[in-house]
Amino acid sequence: MLFDTHAHITDERFNEDRDLMIDRIKREGMLVLNCGCDEKSSYLSAVLAKRYDFFYAAVGMHPHDSKDYTDKFEELIKKLAKEEKVVAIGEIGLDFYYDNSPRDIQREIFIRQIHLADELDLPIIIHSRDASEETYKILKEHLKNPKGAVLHSFSQSTEMLKKYLALDKNIHFSISGPVTFKNARALTEMVPNIPLERIFIETDCPYLTPVPFRGKRNNPTYVAYVADKLSELYGRTTEEIADITAENAMRFFGIKA
Ligand code: NI
Repeated sequence: MLFDTHAHITDERFNEDRDLMIDRIKREGMLVLNCGCDEKSSYLSAVLAKRYDFFYAAVGMHPHDSKDYTDKFEELIKKLAKEEKVVAIGEIGLDFYYDNSPRDIQREIFIRQIHLADELDLPIIIHSRDASEETYKILKEHLKNPKGAVLHSFSQSTEMLKKYLALDKNIHFSISGPVTFKNARALTEMVPNIPLERIFIETDCPYLTPVPFRGKRNNPTYVAYVADKLSELYGRTTEEIADITAENAMRFFGIKA
């Protein structure tokens, strides 16, 4: 079974054919965790999870929008988090590549949502771009909940991977489409160092489309290409990789078979 642990079906790039895409996901017999980035997408993620048994949801404020975080938004997150199939707070973190929100606000809101997840007893889904050292420092200091964290679309160095594993805070690593790219040498060398029981697969659709569809819109069914690539890197069958990564994610997010 395939489990796409990070999708944005609520993105406007699915407005024209969202229902068709949902049908296609259903026919594949896969699971999808849809991630919120702001108020609207968090709310819609929870609605999807309520409506379809193969969808789960994460709710939270992306670092791009952290300047818009308010007490009112936090109240909404607390309310949504009570829903049975809202299984994580995310995506939250730091993005020092785009800097769409000031860095001091990104840090403040990241830490605030780590504490919120602790209070709600949920794991967190982390977005970290051009901020690996700072993300590490914040997790080291603030992540207290044994439910842990997943670093989404993980593409940091083997050295950073080892530092995260040494933290002993139930940290997981989710791999996305770029692992299939021709120029992904550093990534394909790092990935097999991730213990198999700590790895998830994801699309981050509509972004990060894997080969052979690179350049087109991504969708959850393409997570199969990530599983294929990992099967090559770990020397396991694609079915084994699909099952292991799905079981890992279900255990981590507290989803029963
Ligand atoms: Ni995302």
